[in-house]
Amino acid sequence: MRSMDVYARFYDLRYGDFLDDLAMYVGFAARTGGPILELGCGTGRLLIPLAREGYEVTGVDISTEMLKRAREKAIAAGVHERVELIEGDIRTFSTPKKFPLALSAVSSFMALDSLEKQISGLVNVHKALRPGGILILDLFNPNPSVLLEGDGRVSFVGEWEMDDGSVVQEFVTRTTHTSTQVHEILYLYDVAKPDGTLERYRVPVRLKYIGEPEGRLMLEKAGYEVENVYGSYELEPFDDYSPSMIFVARAK
Ligand SMILES: C[S@@+](CC[C@H](N)C(=O)[O-])C[C@H]1O[C@@H](n2cnc3c(N)ncnc32)[C@H](O)[C@@H]1O
Repeated sequence: MRSMDVYARFYDLRYGDFLDDLAMYVGFAARTGGPILELGCGTGRLLIPLAREGYEVTGVDISTEMLKRAREKAIAAGVHERVELIEGDIRTFSTPKKFPLALSAVSSFMALDSLEKQISGLVNVHKALRPGGILILDLFNPNPSVLLEGDGRVSFVGEWEMDDGSVVQEFVTRTTHTSTQVHEILYLYDVAKPDGTLERYRVPVRLKYIGEPEGRLMLEKAGYEVENVYGSYELEPFDDYSPSMIFVARAK
């Protein structure tokens, strides 16, 4: 089973209610109109609220289990008729639709873990955009304090009760490889089941981080014009200490 399929089981415990970035995407969608394409849509954390706003949305994800959850949630929310889900890789998926807006949230794009993969992802997404269509990439700002968090230590993240009565504890360890610009994350989930048994699940994630100049260069090389780089979901200017690095680029 792919690590993202394992992650799907636990993802919403921690991130299901995270909506700090929604207003930003709704703002861009109001400017461009729909339909909206989300790259690495996961369990539909953003896709479903965007569909609730009335937009037609298409989500692409490599994980069968993530998409299964997104589909279930779209049905439960009564928006499934506006939601299309494509199982595929950002680098190779195809769609006959042309979108005025594509987005990749919470560093999902960095899962393409080399510059070559990221550029091929950008080139492929370009094919799905209308001329002048907007691509938003929300990436983490790789400032030294963030990279130093990748010191290999294991920390406790939180504890949740699941629907079947199991109690899950999440731990995480991060390792930064500055020579390759790869931030490796290992999530560990210890699941104490109601029958007293304990299961451990491992979810390794590799994120290829990039700096702002690299991001501009990659986007330009792949056929985009960078319109702006923001540092937060409130669209503040990007600087050394910005919590995020949000590229807004237009397909040429
Ligand atoms: C951190 S989750 C984010 C999910 C969702 N975008 C959100 O904001 O909650 C990253 C998602 O990207 C997907 N992903 C990773 N690599 C991918 C690839 N090469 N092509 C498509 N999806 C990918 C994973 O399966 C996962 O669902």
